[in-house]
Amino acid sequence: MLEQIEFSTKKILEKTRNFKPETGIILGTGLGGLVKEILVEFVLPYAEIPHFPTSTVEGHSGKLIFGELSGKKVVVMQGRFHYYEGYTMKQIAFPVRVMKALGIKYLCVSNACGGMNPDFSVGELMIINDHINLFPDNPLIGQNFEQLGPRFPDMGEVYDKVLIKTAKQIAQEHGIKVSEGVYAGLTGPCFETPAEYRYLRRIGADVVGMSTVPEVIVAKHAGLRVFGISIVTDLGVEGHVQKVTHEEVQMVAAQQEPKMTLLLKELVKRI
Ligand code: HPA
Repeated sequence: MLEQIEFSTKKILEKTRNFKPETGIILGTGLGGLVKEILVEFVLPYAEIPHFPTSTVEGHSGKLIFGELSGKKVVVMQGRFHYYEGYTMKQIAFPVRVMKALGIKYLCVSNACGGMNPDFSVGELMIINDHINLFPDNPLIGQNFEQLGPRFPDMGEVYDKVLIKTAKQIAQEHGIKVSEGVYAGLTGPCFETPAEYRYLRRIGADVVGMSTVPEVIVAKHAGLRVFGISIVTDLGVEGHVQKVTHEEVQMVAAQQEPKMTLLLKELVKRI
């Protein structure tokens, strides 16, 4: 794995003339609009980067975008990988390891999620302050390379408290309502049954989604400072569970995108 990370990184550095980003951003559902705010310098399709996974979904091949956002050097993953597509946890998280090798210190991640917390409403933003890994796997299983991080990484503060505080301040300044809470990550692709939503609420989760946890575990292992934000696109609140479709998730996420983009843009500026 070390050789693969090294080789990918070397090829990227060649193609970007040694561009050294400070922040990595994974654009999940609802953050696509951020790309328009970037002063783009280099675009590398995943297919051109050795050892990068390529998307199984047609038209979603994905690319790494290098440029400036709010005057800061960033690398942005447009297109992420999900466990339900058949990738392993290690494959999903591989780009995070490469971004770390390129020099990032911060990782910002976004996603769409279902909300179990009865105080939440559809369209609301939630800053992730912790997660529960309910994937039947962990990207750190197998041989550990001390160069990448410790064998038994502490997960006491995965989501950086200073970044959370700054993001909340930005939200307040711009009149954006944000909550804070716990993200439960599981495989999908099924949305949850009412009993599963109930269970997730009882074990302490506020929202549930099918991404983020693999990348964030590897980011924390690598010593990165992590920020995560979710858009609540549907509700799994006990007694009020409604039918949910992928189209609806995308529609709600798209509606809330400007808020999310503004928050991230400002956060990167103040990092
Ligand atoms: N469950 C899991 N993942 C999701 C949901 C949900 O209700 N909404 C958006 N992503």
